[in-house]
Amino acid sequence: MVAPIQVLGADGSTGPAFHLRGSDVSYVLRVTDHGHVEHVHFGAVLADLTELADLQPLLRQHPAQNEGVNSPDDPSYWLDRQTLEWSGYGRGDYRLPPIEVRRHDGGLVTDFRFQSFALRDGTVACADGLPTAIGDAENASTLILTLVDADLMLELYYTVFVEANVIAKRVVLTNTAAQAVRIPRLMSQQVDLIDRGYEVITLNGAWIAEAHPHRSPVAPGITLNSSTTGFSSNRHNPGVLLVAPDTGENHGEAYGFNLVYSGNHVTAIELTQRGLLRVQSGINPVGFEWTLHAGERFETPQAVLSFSAQGLNGLSANFHRFVEGHIVRGPWARRARPVLLNNWEATNFTFTHRKLVKMARQAKSLGVELFVLDDGWFAGRSDDHAGLGDYSVDTDKLPRGLSGLSADVRALGLDFGLWVEPESVNPDSELYRAHPDWVLRTAEREPLLGRHQLILDLTRPEVRDYVVGQVGTVLDAADVSYVKWDANRTFADIASPTCPAGEVLHRYQLGLYEVLRRIFEPRPHILLESCASGGNRFDLGMLCFSPQIWASDCTDPIERLTIQGGLSYFYPPSTMGAHVTASPSEQTLRATPLSTRFNVAAFGVLGYELDPEELSASERTEIRSQIAFYKQHRELCQFGALLRADQVQPDRVTLTRLNAAGESALVGAFQTRAIAAQPPEQLEIPRLDPAARYRVTAVPHTLEIRGFGRLINRLSPVPIRDGGVVQSVVNRHYRMPAVVQEYRGSGAALSRLRLIPQFDGTGADANTRILGDFGSTLYLIEKLDSAPAITGGGDER
Ligand code: DGJ
Repeated sequence: MVAPIQVLGADGSTGPAFHLRGSDVSYVLRVTDHGHVEHVHFGAVLADLTELADLQPLLRQHPAQNEGVNSPDDPSYWLDRQTLEWSGYGRGDYRLPPIEVRRHDGGLVTDFRFQSFALRDGTVACADGLPTAIGDAENASTLILTLVDADLMLELYYTVFVEANVIAKRVVLTNTAAQAVRIPRLMSQQVDLIDRGYEVITLNGAWIAEAHPHRSPVAPGITLNSSTTGFSSNRHNPGVLLVAPDTGENHGEAYGFNLVYSGNHVTAIELTQRGLLRVQSGINPVGFEWTLHAGERFETPQAVLSFSAQGLNGLSANFHRFVEGHIVRGPWARRARPVLLNNWEATNFTFTHRKLVKMARQAKSLGVELFVLDDGWFAGRSDDHAGLGDYSVDTDKLPRGLSGLSADVRALGLDFGLWVEPESVNPDSELYRAHPDWVLRTAEREPLLGRHQLILDLTRPEVRDYVVGQVGTVLDAADVSYVKWDANRTFADIASPTCPAGEVLHRYQLGLYEVLRRIFEPRPHILLESCASGGNRFDLGMLCFSPQIWASDCTDPIERLTIQGGLSYFYPPSTMGAHVTASPSEQTLRATPLSTRFNVAAFGVLGYELDPEELSASERTEIRSQIAFYKQHRELCQFGALLRADQVQPDRVTLTRLNAAGESALVGAFQTRAIAAQPPEQLEIPRLDPAARYRVTAVPHTLEIRGFGRLINRLSPVPIRDGGVVQSVVNRHYRMPAVVQEYRGSGAALSRLRLIPQFDGTGADANTRILGDFGSTLYLIEKLDSAPAITGGGDER
């Protein structure tokens, strides 16, 4: 095996150079003869360091008049023109510095120079409890560079995750001086690339509209992707992509950056007039200032970087492998996730033991495996004004407590899951009345409320102990096997008696990670799904504790295509909770077919969030077969490789899941808007074995009679008035089966499969697909031993 980290010049003959090699990615850095760490290469894999013809200073040239400064004995050495892995302030690099230091004497200048390096097998965990990616000597290797500037020591950690093609970077700063220094800025990583007209893609959003991708050219100056809400946020996910202008889903160069952190973050991209592109990521300096006392060290969160020359799908494949292999851990890593029913959208806060058990019984009959009780189970919680912070059960709703409910649910053959929101407290709660000082607040102001609640001060050990104790007791008493951990307000009044204000948010994150570790490490059987008003904290930090995250409170499948699609650039579908809910959507009022709601949720971890009692008999039958299908193909749905198709038409979305052996695939073809006078449609089924034979079948589903309006009279023996009673009765009991579609052909032929036509205003027969607005089809592709040349159509049954 080729060493994942190659070192050149370790004997001191030259400044050493380091080659971190993934299966398809190389990352090269070197120490200049002035001791700065220079970035040399991040891109296609190199067999050997010697492939880089010139490891000499890359960008040396004499500074233009008045433009820069250099060292008197080496006029061509000019920091502002170097591609650097680390930099400082006040020594001639005028780009954004990755570090700012305020020394006890007021000094601001920093200039870190290389001192030594070390190699380690596997990964090196953070000492202070920040989560980091995991790996062992088989799949990961770590380089540690030690740099020194006067009485500060800086260690740059680089871990290469070979198969995932990910380089993880973080830094540790140690104060070796006798006095404290203040650190208002300390990035996790910096890399200087040479610009090639790159464009930046960020995931922006809001509540119920998370992770909308936006792509724009990198503008000269500084572009920031930042969160200041205290969460990694639904506004700007920490994941950032840099792509060549012609990069699409399946071709072109793509760089990706993300952070293993759940709090305020920033990625800064600085494009200079001379075509250098600096990318930094780390804790957002807004509101941050850390005092590093003599002898103390500060560890940054881990930043992760990847590259692919195979377009965005190639890059996502790297990140997905990374998340599933090195971020998600414990017994739930790569383990099949249960199909759940959650009561939230069905009941909100209003339920009884009887109602819940009835829902659970019906859910069981549909094939559901896990029943989840959401918000509203504790005393005072008849709406969102009261009760958070207290863990006593509302005995009016649940006279036999959670244990009684859990026992009844389990007796049905279902697992029992529970919602908790342990980071917040309502002022109207026993906890707050007893400990008004346990919340984040300044001394001089009344704290602001968000969803009628305040944030518990997790920087305080006694608050952490309370949360760990209370939540643990509840989980054990009710035999809980799944937890939905919610957090529903953003941060304000950031202050605590435990530490200076600039440290509160980071110490809060450390406190949160400690609490999660203490609650869930001793209970590895519990599947944790984190949530923050939906996807307000969808990040690699939370994924180190919760294998899945509730992607959004928006369950409208059309909006979900954008949300799940956006998240999928960085996070695999196995991390995304995705539920089928009632139609019209409670968030958008859009009415969508049941099949489309399932087809979108099947591209994530499937759940239902509706009242089974309200379903018609025909809907029940449909859901039963949806769940049966999902269970049968669960491995493909949860862990199959995801491929997004380039969106050639704005109203079409096509997604594919492939199994590892290339023997089966699922393709979801979604029509977000019907158009008249359809052109012939071709389904692109990527990456099949060109020579092998496959069968493609549309997963059976049914169509609502109501959707045909008065047109149904062309088929019906009795007149059916649109909106009338007959239509409503028929609609509840009968659904029209969608046309049967089966196609066969070689992988090569199926890469462009011509589908039978859609209904186009006239006629409809056994060869006509009927989709309409928001219609969709799931195609199952299975490898055959042998098959005839391509045939197809709706008449093949
Ligand atoms: C916000 C979550 O995202 C919802 O799914 C639900 O759990 C509510 N909170 C409950 O208050």
